[in-house]
Amino acid sequence: MRIRILGTAAGGGVPQWNCACPGCAAARADPRLRRRHASLAVEADAGRWYVVNATPDLGEQIEECPPLRPGPARRHTPVAGVILTDAELDHTLGLPRLREAPTLRIIATDTVREALCGGLRLDRVLAPYAGLSWATLPHEAPEALDGGPLEIQGITVSGKRPRYAADLDAEPAGDAWVVALRIRDRRDGKALVYAPALAAWPAGLDRALHDADCVFIDGTFWDDEEPRRSGFSQRTAVEMGHLPITGPDGTAERLAALPAARRLYTHLNNTNPLVDPADGGHRRLAAMGIDVAREREVIEL
Ligand code: MLT
Ligand code: MN
Ligand code: ZN
Repeated sequence: MRIRILGTAAGGGVPQWNCACPGCAAARADPRLRRRHASLAVEADAGRWYVVNATPDLGEQIEECPPLRPGPARRHTPVAGVILTDAELDHTLGLPRLREAPTLRIIATDTVREALCGGLRLDRVLAPYAGLSWATLPHEAPEALDGGPLEIQGITVSGKRPRYAADLDAEPAGDAWVVALRIRDRRDGKALVYAPALAAWPAGLDRALHDADCVFIDGTFWDDEEPRRSGFSQRTAVEMGHLPITGPDGTAERLAALPAARRLYTHLNNTNPLVDPADGGHRRLAAMGIDVAREREVIEL
């Protein structure tokens, strides 16, 4: 399985347009430190790629990733569609950026689809531009992706809703607001789990993580107090729906205990000290066998 990391930042990216915090200021001064919004590209079949989460940076992310660029025919794109793990704005605002395509294939849970259509009215807004071709992300059992060698499954993580959908009546679409995406290659059995938003670590997710060769998990905040200490929120990391990396609710020990050959944090907020490559947290995690996902890294499983 071929995976390309398209971005590694939480909502806002690094630098964030209205932020002059040390991490954002450093990335403004040195473009090598910038992080685009968290996303992956996965090759579904030779030359056909799915993008996992459609970020506000998606246009640039496609341009910066050579296998995703169009051609050789004038309007041929290797981007087959988008798979969504949730309906958060930082994972879905890229959908309108793809409106130049005649049809746009979106694979998501019914809950996420209902949020985007009922809450954001995305289907009605985009209808005059591009036809949306929806498919339900299977959650009971894995299913083949477009009949190819990969199978996909959404593993339920939490019922954390995007703020715009706080009052949305999403029944009867269910409560699969946030899933982890599991992708398994039937050719060699290798599996990837991508979980950029962890409000909880449920047993079903734990099983999928234990069964994976490569796992990406939520690295939004280094510790629970970080959002309050940085002054941008009254809520702790846990209250914002992100288990932090360290502390009593920290995920680092559980991540380190997984048998996966590659264990990575992604979806870093610009307040996270890890946005500084010289921060000591990198060494601490490396000693536990954990990496911080790097922009444009290529992973072959
Ligand atoms: C999140 O990851 O919790 C959301 O993207 C935060 C937001 O609403 O911007
Ligand atoms: Mn986010
Ligand atoms: Zn900042």
